[in-house]
Amino acid sequence: MAPANAPSVANLASTVTNAANQPDLRGNLMPVRSEIDIDDCHVDGTIPTGLRGSFIRNGPNPAFEPLGSYHMFDGDGMLHGITFGDDGVSYRNRWIRSRGLGAELAHGAAVYHGLAEVMSFPDPKLTGDAGPLKNPANTHIIEHAGRRLALWEGGPPTEVDTNLDTLGEYDFGGRLVGAMTAHPRIDPRTGEMCFFSYSLFEPYLRYHVADSTGALVHSVDLDLPAPVMMHDFIITEEHAVFLDSPIVFDLENLGTGPMVNWKPENGTRIGVMPRRGTNADLRWFEIEPGHVQHFWNGWATGNRIEFSGSRLADPNFGIDPTSPLDEQAADNQPGRPARYWVDLGSGSAGWEPSDDLPGDFCRINDAYTGVPNRYAYMSAFGGSVGNQGDFDTMVAYDQSTGERSMWHSGAGGHVGESVFAPDPAGTAENDGWLINAVYYEGGDRTDVCVLDARDVEAGPIARVTMPQRIPFGFHANWFGA
Ligand SMILES: [Fe+2]
Repeated sequence: MAPANAPSVANLASTVTNAANQPDLRGNLMPVRSEIDIDDCHVDGTIPTGLRGSFIRNGPNPAFEPLGSYHMFDGDGMLHGITFGDDGVSYRNRWIRSRGLGAELAHGAAVYHGLAEVMSFPDPKLTGDAGPLKNPANTHIIEHAGRRLALWEGGPPTEVDTNLDTLGEYDFGGRLVGAMTAHPRIDPRTGEMCFFSYSLFEPYLRYHVADSTGALVHSVDLDLPAPVMMHDFIITEEHAVFLDSPIVFDLENLGTGPMVNWKPENGTRIGVMPRRGTNADLRWFEIEPGHVQHFWNGWATGNRIEFSGSRLADPNFGIDPTSPLDEQAADNQPGRPARYWVDLGSGSAGWEPSDDLPGDFCRINDAYTGVPNRYAYMSAFGGSVGNQGDFDTMVAYDQSTGERSMWHSGAGGHVGESVFAPDPAGTAENDGWLINAVYYEGGDRTDVCVLDARDVEAGPIARVTMPQRIPFGFHANWFGA
């Protein structure tokens, strides 16, 4: 039975205090307490008249004091929506009402342990229908075939409506078996969405295609030698391209040591298959060990496939209950921009660095997914390397000239992911704006900054003062009006 004072869905508020002094709940990782709606956010500068729609950012915001060791991958998803309209800018935030969070709401306290203690299964009497694993849907938010899906790579998508209210887990009408990556690739020409999922148990990799109507029309199991934490992939107009890098799940260590281990001795391989292919069509190409958490884009020219991403030489995500300062251990080797290539004719493949600037959160104008693109956006450590993902600089690359332009967010500033919002009146690839939720330690506030994508160095042309800070999180998208 729920205690009499258990918060209802209507008045959910975070009760997290960081009483256990957890590193992933410090500073701007501390969750905000409330869901609010503000219609008239303060704006400095000028919002472009073509910028109409919503910037929505997903990220962890635990509702209850965590049980045991907390990692930022664990927190209940919260969507922050900033809507640019003719009458001004509004803000709204909502928790993802996962079934797991529902069980915790009924109990009035946390029920689920985090990933580091994943073998500490919750009491079935407390979880009920929600099951032994919470799907916090805290990583990304996308739209495909009219559905908005909040994503978390350990489970199926969670559908939300345009008001950010949760509709529930979505399994493509029962056709999706297992999880879905937080980084599907949508072909803007065909409307197809290609995606994959990994599993700790065989089959270790599954690949899917949903057609432009949202119907899941192709699902195949793919062979991998070991269970790995694959986060992203790319498509060309013809191919799906995977990077099988050796971030290997350690089943023996689950709950008692590092959840994943970097095993370069396992090797690293690029996998290429036709977008509607099967395991029999999948070709693997061995390259030097390295991991990519996020790719920019890829394309094929004849037999040659090129793609790019932020490459980590020695990744460590610090999901380890024996290491309380796990995030610091994870900070030492940030990713750096790299180009990859495969020659399907000769069978050769490789990679080369494209810049020495440490950074990640790779994004492009998504209208160029799968075809050659010129501009690439990244969040970077412009100064010294700080905590994992805690960037201070927005970067735009012109890949045709190699030119790099940057805007440093200033003293105490921390940038999130840059999202490209196209100018509806534009014609060039970079006709549009970059939107980024920038946190400032001084004042403990977040400004949602709008930059002209053609002139990043000029800095924000508009800043929207958030009515409450937006905690550090993961991915965002632009949903045009
Ligand atoms: Fe990601």
